[in-house]
Amino acid sequence: MKRRWRGQQDRSVDLSTWLYGRRLPSPIMSASGTSGHGAELAAFVDLSQIGAVVVKSLAHFPNDGNPAPRVGVISTGMINSVGLPGPGVRRWIDEYLPDLIRLGANVVVSVWGRTRADYITAVEQLVPVASHLLAVEVNVSCPNTEKGGEMFGHDPKETKEIVRAVSQTCSLPIGVKLSPNTDRYIKVAEAALEVGASTLVASNTYLGQVLREGSRKPVLGTKSGGGVSGIGVLPLSLRIVKELNKAFPGCDIVGVGGVYSASDALAYLFEGASAIQVGTATFIDPRSLHKISEELKKTIKEQGVTNLKDLLSIKREFLSF
Ligand code: FUM
Repeated sequence: MKRRWRGQQDRSVDLSTWLYGRRLPSPIMSASGTSGHGAELAAFVDLSQIGAVVVKSLAHFPNDGNPAPRVGVISTGMINSVGLPGPGVRRWIDEYLPDLIRLGANVVVSVWGRTRADYITAVEQLVPVASHLLAVEVNVSCPNTEKGGEMFGHDPKETKEIVRAVSQTCSLPIGVKLSPNTDRYIKVAEAALEVGASTLVASNTYLGQVLREGSRKPVLGTKSGGGVSGIGVLPLSLRIVKELNKAFPGCDIVGVGGVYSASDALAYLFEGASAIQVGTATFIDPRSLHKISEELKKTIKEQGVTNLKDLLSIKREFLSF
């Protein structure tokens, strides 16, 4: 059983935001794949006070993932090729979901598959526990599958069929995790929205390769490269969020990529995101979700308001940054 976090938090500021048709206590969420499959961060942050825990992508089958090393550190963050290891949806429901429920977390389940039928089966298995979930995040953009950079999320038609199938299988709100590794992400997003996605999650990691210093050897066990994340990708994902917001005004967008501080989070909110996912920062400091939330509350107070909505309506520059 995971230990509940018992640190200090400022309760005088309202960070709430709307996403997936629900009022969430905060726009700060965990990013899929960066804090395990369940309540792994419970000792470092009050999971009931963040926006949501987005669990590492699950398939309907257990999966071993890629050979080690699976992650490598770079000056601007990290590269990973983890290969979507996981217990499978059924075991996850038995072994991981109970702690998340007990700790009061909003739970978003990320799902993946090798075929459209895989996605359907994974979501069918979630249906009996749907009342405990906030949403499904459809991961069509993992760069680390057997097919490498060839992913469903680079093809509007494939994405559409997968999202359509998911929306026909369950009534949970659907987010789609977009790939930044294609110039067609607007088309892909449009296709997903047409068939039932409500939320665009932008974005997954950036295809990259890193060699060991002074060597021809890749740092990752997969050798072919992996997905780059961290502070260096913030401007890249921020631009994607900006373009999505322009293309789909009013659509819920979740900004992901390189959020290490409240000012990084605010950049996404200013460009039209309703929420932010924090990933790589958690590897540097597992308390990042808590720290960023508290920093955001401090900024709200410094600007003389008491909630996030009012902060975002302030038009003058925030001179303290
Ligand atoms: O390798 C991985 O498990 C990464 C997954 C993802 O980026 O979606």
